[in-house]
Amino acid sequence: MMRTLVICISIHHKNTEIVAKEIAEVLSADLLKPNEVEINTLSEYDLIGFGSGIYFGEHHRSLLNLIDKLPDLKGKKVFIFSTSGMSNAGNYIHNVRHRVSHFHTSSRERLVKKGFDIIGEFTCRGFDTAGPFKLIGGISKGRPNENDLENARGFAKKLKGSPNAG
Ligand SMILES: Cc1cc2nc3c(=O)[nH]c(=O)nc-3n(C[C@H](O)[C@H](O)[C@H](O)COP(=O)(O)O)c2cc1C
Repeated sequence: MMRTLVICISIHHKNTEIVAKEIAEVLSADLLKPNEVEINTLSEYDLIGFGSGIYFGEHHRSLLNLIDKLPDLKGKKVFIFSTSGMSNAGNYIHNVRHRVSHFHTSSRERLVKKGFDIIGEFTCRGFDTAGPFKLIGGISKGRPNENDLENARGFAKKLKGSPNAG
């Protein structure tokens, strides 16, 4: 039996938490927030997922900080997931001063640097009332929706069946 841990911080509208719960259920995984993770227990897991909403073009700071604190768990199977108000194409608005990058770039780079083996990534839209979007009642209303959650479950099932996992 594959032991899986899903680490998720979801603060804006609990959008990513809904997705995390679906993924965790499919994988019979433990679900923790970054500040609840006991780093010395991570080696007991076969697969670890990292997820949050996207904030200014990257995962939530507490998730990135946790990844930075992790020991080298060379070859440990991991996956990344997120929800975001915009599609990645819109993200250049926030990133234009630096570079146009995928929402997962900074978390992915951190994980790769630690020697983790990323076996999958998932993202979908999440209701967003940040800044000026509040004035128009928010964007990506109703997301994640049932279709997004079906996709999330499908993603998790693939992880389960992945020959790379476990
Ligand atoms: C301060 C702030 C910054 C955000 N930055 C981005 C962004 O750069 N790109 C984007 O698509 N969405 C952005 N969003 C929207 C969130 O990613 C989106 O609402 C997400 O679903 C929130 O997830 P959560 O409810 O799990 O925290 C931002 C939201 C907030 C509050």
